[in-house]
Amino acid sequence: MTAAIPLSEEKKTINGRLQGKVALITGGALGIGAACGELFAAQGASIAIADINLDAAKALASKIEAAGSQAIAMPLDVTRDIQCGNAADETRRKFGSIDILVNSAGVSARNIGNDMTFEQRWDRVIDVNLKGSVLMARHAVRHMQQQKNGSIVNIASIRGLIGYPDFMTDGFHPYPHSKGGVVNMTRDMAVGLARSGIRVNAVCPGFTHTDMTNAVSNDPELYKRIVGLHPIGRFAQPIEIARAALFLASDEASFVTGACLVIDGGFTAQ
Ligand code: NAI
Repeated sequence: MTAAIPLSEEKKTINGRLQGKVALITGGALGIGAACGELFAAQGASIAIADINLDAAKALASKIEAAGSQAIAMPLDVTRDIQCGNAADETRRKFGSIDILVNSAGVSARNIGNDMTFEQRWDRVIDVNLKGSVLMARHAVRHMQQQKNGSIVNIASIRGLIGYPDFMTDGFHPYPHSKGGVVNMTRDMAVGLARSGIRVNAVCPGFTHTDMTNAVSNDPELYKRIVGLHPIGRFAQPIEIARAALFLASDEASFVTGACLVIDGGFTAQ
């Protein structure tokens, strides 16, 4: 079985792949967003970590700074347009530009409590995963258009391409609904922003070990069943998703826009 190369083996070089760039990462405190922050920093970027969990965002910013890079933490609920505007403005004020936006803030219906009606749950998942990505992108683009360049990476999901297996859904699961929107939003933004020098792409991860999938990982029967759907035979580590985001964010992907890069251990290849 192939294993993930750990972040500790990432070399920080003078010619880092994101040297001198500024990355704003929503949901950047934990999971895939945090892996992007640490990896991008190791590649020379300054990082603005924007998250509804400010304590975790501050802890990661301190860790990145202790490793010798620049980072700030800021509070952000991506469902609030004003807060998205403030996060974009504060990043530009602090670091001078916004070269990269990673939209990683996301929720699954399983992780937002049980005290909601179907409609409230559906609205919340769509609000965070889809509307939040649109609002944040719109404010980052205000700055990117002035700079005449930028790269937006949306953390979508294989659920934007296919539905859940039948044992995980009753057909009304808002998560695939939201991620399908993120995938096609990515394409629409890519076309609309190409002539402004802004590239927009998505990463579509399979199951990845983060807080979002803890409930699955802690249920041995369910976990085994889902792992069995990944030909590689395991879940991803967040760093493996971050490496794909790094490629799309960097100038190495200068002719890539509107793409959805599937990182799923072969799940959707079957
Ligand atoms: P996570 O739960 O570890 O991290 C999500 C982060 O988003 C947390 O830091 C959380 O505080 C933040 N967040 C939640 N609501 C927010 C809001 N309203 N405003 C700002 N920040 C908010 O989850 P994970 O796995 O790192 O998820 C990151 C992205 O990757 C999500 O969009 C998720 O849908 C997507 N994804 C995750 C997969 C997985 O298996 N873990 C698979 C495919 C996609």
